[in-house]
Amino acid sequence: MNKELKNEVPKHVAIIMDGNGRWAKKRHLPRIAGHKKGMEIIKNITKAANRLGIKVLTVYAFSTENWQRSQEEVSYLMKLPIIFFNSFVPELIKENVRVNIMGYVNQLPNDTQKAISAAIQQTSRCDGMILNIALNYGGHDELVTAFKLMATDLQKGKLTIDQIDQNLVSDYLMTHELKPYDNPELMIRTSGEQRISNFLLWQLAYSEFMFTDTYWPDFTAEEFYELIHAYQKRDRRFGKIKDE
Ligand code: FPP
Repeated sequence: MNKELKNEVPKHVAIIMDGNGRWAKKRHLPRIAGHKKGMEIIKNITKAANRLGIKVLTVYAFSTENWQRSQEEVSYLMKLPIIFFNSFVPELIKENVRVNIMGYVNQLPNDTQKAISAAIQQTSRCDGMILNIALNYGGHDELVTAFKLMATDLQKGKLTIDQIDQNLVSDYLMTHELKPYDNPELMIRTSGEQRISNFLLWQLAYSEFMFTDTYWPDFTAEEFYELIHAYQKRDRRFGKIKDE
Protein backbone atom coordinates (compact mmCIF):
# COMPACT_ATOMS: atom_id res chain seq x y z
CA MET A 1 0.00 0.00 0.00
CA ASN A 2 2.80 2.41 0.84
CA LYS A 3 4.55 1.83 -2.44
CA GLU A 4 6.33 5.03 -3.36
CA LEU A 5 5.16 6.59 -6.59
CA LYS A 6 7.70 9.33 -7.14
CA ASN A 7 6.93 10.10 -10.74
CA GLU A 8 3.85 11.81 -12.05
CA VAL A 9 0.66 9.86 -11.55
CA PRO A 10 -1.85 9.83 -14.40
CA LYS A 11 -4.50 12.52 -13.96
CA HIS A 12 -7.32 10.44 -15.43
CA VAL A 13 -7.52 6.66 -15.13
CA ALA A 14 -10.33 4.75 -16.83
CA ILE A 15 -11.18 1.16 -15.93
CA ILE A 16 -13.14 -1.55 -17.73
CA MET A 17 -14.19 -3.67 -14.76
CA ASP A 18 -14.47 -7.07 -16.42
CA GLY A 19 -14.74 -10.60 -15.08
CA ASN A 20 -17.52 -10.35 -12.49
CA GLY A 21 -19.49 -13.19 -14.11
CA ARG A 22 -16.49 -15.52 -14.40
CA TRP A 23 -15.48 -14.75 -10.81
CA ALA A 24 -18.94 -15.79 -9.65
CA LYS A 25 -19.04 -18.89 -11.87
CA LYS A 26 -15.72 -20.09 -10.48
CA ARG A 27 -17.32 -20.00 -7.03
CA HIS A 28 -20.60 -21.58 -8.18
CA LEU A 29 -22.39 -18.33 -7.35
CA PRO A 30 -24.95 -16.43 -9.45
CA ARG A 31 -23.48 -13.76 -11.74
CA ILE A 32 -24.98 -11.00 -9.61
CA ALA A 33 -22.77 -12.08 -6.70
CA GLY A 34 -19.83 -11.06 -8.88
CA HIS A 35 -21.36 -7.65 -9.53
CA LYS A 36 -22.02 -7.15 -5.81
CA LYS A 37 -18.39 -7.91 -4.95
CA GLY A 38 -17.36 -5.77 -7.92
CA MET A 39 -19.22 -2.83 -6.45
CA GLU A 40 -17.21 -3.15 -3.23
CA ILE A 41 -13.99 -3.11 -5.27
CA ILE A 42 -15.01 0.23 -6.81
CA LYS A 43 -15.01 1.64 -3.27
CA ASN A 44 -11.47 0.37 -2.57
CA ILE A 45 -10.08 1.61 -5.85
CA THR A 46 -11.80 5.01 -5.50
CA LYS A 47 -10.07 5.53 -2.17
CA ALA A 48 -6.73 4.27 -3.51
CA ALA A 49 -6.94 6.53 -6.58
CA ASN A 50 -7.89 9.53 -4.47
CA ARG A 51 -4.91 8.98 -2.18
CA LEU A 52 -2.58 8.88 -5.16
CA GLY A 53 -3.78 12.31 -6.29
CA ILE A 54 -5.56 11.08 -9.40
CA LYS A 55 -8.01 13.74 -10.59
CA VAL A 56 -10.56 11.59 -12.42
CA LEU A 57 -11.36 7.91 -12.04
CA THR A 58 -13.76 6.63 -14.69
CA VAL A 59 -15.33 3.20 -14.24
CA TYR A 60 -17.37 1.44 -16.93
CA ALA A 61 -20.35 0.12 -14.96
CA PHE A 62 -22.98 -0.46 -17.66
CA SER A 63 -22.71 -0.17 -21.42
CA THR A 64 -25.42 0.57 -23.96
CA GLU A 65 -25.00 -3.08 -25.01
CA ASN A 66 -25.50 -4.51 -21.50
CA TRP A 67 -29.32 -4.22 -21.83
CA GLN A 68 -29.07 -7.46 -23.83
CA ARG A 69 -28.29 -9.46 -20.68
CA SER A 70 -30.98 -11.38 -18.77
CA GLN A 71 -33.70 -9.32 -17.15
CA GLU A 72 -32.56 -10.52 -13.72
CA GLU A 73 -29.00 -9.34 -14.29
CA VAL A 74 -30.02 -6.01 -15.82
CA SER A 75 -32.40 -5.22 -13.01
CA TYR A 76 -29.71 -6.04 -10.42
CA LEU A 77 -27.19 -3.87 -12.25
CA MET A 78 -29.76 -1.06 -12.16
CA LYS A 79 -30.15 -1.48 -8.39
CA LEU A 80 -26.41 -1.46 -7.73
CA PRO A 81 -25.94 2.32 -8.06
CA ILE A 82 -28.67 2.74 -5.40
CA ILE A 83 -26.95 0.30 -3.03
CA PHE A 84 -23.56 1.82 -3.84
CA PHE A 85 -24.52 5.41 -3.14
CA ASN A 86 -26.59 4.53 -0.04
CA SER A 87 -23.57 2.91 1.53
CA PHE A 88 -20.77 5.04 0.12
CA VAL A 89 -21.81 8.69 -0.20
CA PRO A 90 -20.80 9.63 3.40
CA GLU A 91 -17.33 8.24 2.74
CA LEU A 92 -17.15 9.98 -0.64
CA ILE A 93 -17.91 13.27 1.10
CA LYS A 94 -15.28 12.55 3.75
CA GLU A 95 -12.79 11.76 0.97
CA ASN A 96 -13.82 14.97 -0.88
CA VAL A 97 -14.74 12.94 -3.99
CA ARG A 98 -17.37 14.26 -6.38
CA VAL A 99 -19.67 11.93 -8.30
CA ASN A 100 -20.23 12.42 -12.01
CA ILE A 101 -22.29 10.15 -14.23
CA MET A 102 -21.57 9.71 -17.91
CA GLY A 103 -24.20 8.12 -20.13
CA TYR A 104 -27.86 8.14 -21.10
CA VAL A 105 -29.17 8.51 -17.55
CA ASN A 106 -32.71 9.36 -18.64
CA GLN A 107 -33.15 5.78 -19.94
CA LEU A 108 -32.46 4.29 -16.48
CA PRO A 109 -35.24 3.28 -14.06
CA ASN A 110 -36.64 6.17 -12.02
CA ASP A 111 -35.31 5.02 -8.66
CA THR A 112 -31.82 4.63 -10.15
CA GLN A 113 -32.05 8.14 -11.58
CA LYS A 114 -33.13 9.48 -8.20
CA ALA A 115 -30.20 7.84 -6.41
CA ILE A 116 -27.82 9.26 -9.01
CA SER A 117 -29.21 12.80 -8.73
CA ALA A 118 -29.00 12.63 -4.94
CA ALA A 119 -25.36 11.43 -5.02
CA ILE A 120 -24.41 14.14 -7.50
CA GLN A 121 -26.10 16.77 -5.37
CA GLN A 122 -24.67 15.47 -2.06
CA THR A 123 -21.10 15.46 -3.38
CA SER A 124 -21.42 18.63 -5.46
CA ARG A 125 -19.25 20.63 -3.06
CA CYS A 126 -16.41 18.10 -3.08
CA ASP A 127 -13.55 19.48 -5.10
CA GLY A 128 -11.08 16.60 -4.93
CA MET A 129 -11.13 13.63 -7.26
CA ILE A 130 -14.07 13.00 -9.59
CA LEU A 131 -15.51 9.50 -9.58
CA ASN A 132 -16.95 9.33 -13.07
CA ILE A 133 -19.28 6.36 -13.49
CA ALA A 134 -20.13 5.34 -17.05
CA LEU A 135 -23.71 4.09 -16.85
CA ASN A 136 -25.63 3.27 -20.01
CA TYR A 137 -22.63 4.63 -21.89
CA GLY A 138 -21.42 3.64 -25.35
CA GLY A 139 -18.71 5.29 -27.42
CA HIS A 140 -20.54 4.96 -30.75
CA ASP A 141 -23.73 6.48 -29.34
CA GLU A 142 -21.71 9.23 -27.67
CA LEU A 143 -20.24 10.18 -31.07
CA VAL A 144 -23.62 10.00 -32.82
CA THR A 145 -25.11 12.29 -30.16
CA ALA A 146 -22.17 14.68 -30.54
CA PHE A 147 -22.58 14.78 -34.35
CA LYS A 148 -26.29 15.48 -33.99
CA LEU A 149 -25.67 18.29 -31.48
CA MET A 150 -23.05 19.79 -33.75
CA ALA A 151 -25.31 19.57 -36.81
CA THR A 152 -28.10 21.25 -34.84
CA ASP A 153 -25.79 24.08 -33.77
CA LEU A 154 -24.60 24.47 -37.37
CA GLN A 155 -28.18 24.60 -38.59
CA LYS A 156 -29.06 27.22 -35.97
CA GLY A 157 -26.06 29.31 -36.97
CA LYS A 158 -24.46 28.90 -33.52
CA LEU A 159 -21.47 27.23 -35.14
CA THR A 160 -19.57 27.53 -38.43
CA ILE A 161 -17.72 24.69 -40.18
CA ASP A 162 -14.42 26.55 -39.74
CA GLN A 163 -14.83 26.39 -35.98
CA ILE A 164 -14.84 22.59 -35.96
CA ASP A 165 -11.52 21.34 -34.67
CA GLN A 166 -10.38 18.66 -32.20
CA ASN A 167 -11.02 20.89 -29.20
CA LEU A 168 -14.52 21.74 -30.34
CA VAL A 169 -15.38 18.08 -30.97
CA SER A 170 -14.29 17.26 -27.41
CA ASP A 171 -16.69 19.95 -26.16
CA TYR A 172 -19.59 17.94 -27.60
CA LEU A 173 -18.61 14.68 -25.91
CA MET A 174 -19.94 13.38 -22.60
CA THR A 175 -16.51 13.93 -21.06
CA HIS A 176 -16.52 17.69 -21.67
CA GLU A 177 -17.38 18.30 -18.01
CA LEU A 178 -14.14 16.61 -16.97
CA LYS A 179 -11.94 19.10 -18.82
CA PRO A 180 -8.99 19.58 -18.62
CA TYR A 181 -8.81 15.90 -17.61
CA ASP A 182 -11.22 14.54 -20.21
CA ASN A 183 -8.78 12.14 -21.90
CA PRO A 184 -7.47 9.27 -19.74
CA GLU A 185 -3.70 8.85 -19.68
CA LEU A 186 -4.24 5.25 -18.60
CA MET A 187 -6.91 2.65 -19.37
CA ILE A 188 -6.99 -0.58 -17.38
CA ARG A 189 -9.03 -3.66 -18.28
CA THR A 190 -9.30 -6.58 -15.93
CA SER A 191 -10.05 -10.27 -16.62
CA GLY A 192 -7.61 -10.90 -19.45
CA GLU A 193 -9.77 -9.57 -22.29
CA GLN A 194 -7.89 -7.19 -24.56
CA ARG A 195 -10.38 -4.92 -26.29
CA ILE A 196 -12.02 -1.57 -25.57
CA SER A 197 -15.66 -2.62 -26.02
CA ASN A 198 -17.08 0.72 -27.18
CA PHE A 199 -15.45 2.64 -24.32
CA LEU A 200 -14.27 6.25 -24.75
CA LEU A 201 -13.46 5.84 -28.45
CA TRP A 202 -12.25 9.40 -29.00
CA GLN A 203 -10.75 9.93 -25.57
CA LEU A 204 -8.49 6.84 -25.56
CA ALA A 205 -6.58 7.92 -28.69
CA TYR A 206 -3.30 8.42 -26.81
CA SER A 207 -3.97 6.48 -23.62
CA GLU A 208 -1.66 3.80 -22.34
CA PHE A 209 -3.46 0.47 -22.08
CA MET A 210 -2.86 -2.04 -19.28
CA PHE A 211 -4.46 -5.46 -19.21
CA THR A 212 -4.46 -7.74 -16.21
CA ASP A 213 -5.76 -11.30 -15.92
CA THR A 214 -7.26 -10.56 -12.50
CA TYR A 215 -11.06 -10.67 -12.41
CA TRP A 216 -12.48 -7.35 -11.24
CA PRO A 217 -13.82 -8.74 -7.90
CA ASP A 218 -10.25 -9.87 -7.08
CA PHE A 219 -8.65 -6.56 -8.07
CA THR A 220 -6.85 -4.84 -5.19
CA ALA A 221 -5.42 -1.42 -4.36
CA GLU A 222 -1.97 -3.07 -4.38
CA GLU A 223 -2.40 -4.23 -7.98
CA PHE A 224 -3.74 -0.81 -8.90
CA TYR A 225 -0.57 0.80 -7.49
CA GLU A 226 1.55 -1.68 -9.41
CA LEU A 227 -0.20 -0.77 -12.67
CA ILE A 228 0.28 2.93 -11.98
CA HIS A 229 3.94 2.21 -11.31
CA ALA A 230 4.20 0.31 -14.61
CA TYR A 231 2.49 3.22 -16.36
CA GLN A 232 5.16 5.56 -15.00
CA LYS A 233 7.81 3.50 -16.79
CA ARG A 234 6.07 3.77 -20.15
CA ASP A 235 7.55 6.03 -22.78
CA ARG A 236 4.73 8.25 -24.05
CA ARG A 237 5.68 9.93 -27.32
CA PHE A 238 2.38 11.05 -28.83
CA GLY A 239 3.64 10.34 -32.35
CA LYS A 240 6.79 12.37 -31.85
CA ILE A 241 10.40 11.24 -31.68
CA LYS A 242 11.89 11.45 -28.22
CA ASP A 243 14.21 14.47 -27.93
CA GLU A 244 17.50 13.37 -26.41
C1 FPP B 1 -18.31 -6.86 -16.61
O1 FPP B 1 -18.17 -8.16 -16.10
C2 FPP B 1 -18.96 -6.03 -15.61
C3 FPP B 1 -20.14 -5.39 -15.79
C4 FPP B 1 -20.89 -5.43 -17.05
C5 FPP B 1 -20.74 -4.61 -14.71
C6 FPP B 1 -19.77 -3.91 -13.86
C7 FPP B 1 -20.44 -3.39 -12.65
C8 FPP B 1 -19.89 -3.32 -11.44
C9 FPP B 1 -18.50 -3.71 -11.15
C10 FPP B 1 -20.65 -2.77 -10.30
C11 FPP B 1 -21.41 -1.52 -10.66
C12 FPP B 1 -21.51 -0.64 -9.54
C13 FPP B 1 -22.01 0.61 -9.57
C14 FPP B 1 -21.80 1.49 -8.44
C15 FPP B 1 -22.77 1.13 -10.70
P1 FPP B 1 -18.98 -9.33 -16.79
O2 FPP B 1 -20.30 -9.43 -16.13
O3 FPP B 1 -19.05 -9.09 -18.26
O4 FPP B 1 -18.08 -10.54 -16.45
P2 FPP B 1 -17.79 -11.81 -17.38
O5 FPP B 1 -17.14 -11.31 -18.63
O6 FPP B 1 -16.88 -12.64 -16.55
O7 FPP B 1 -19.11 -12.50 -17.62
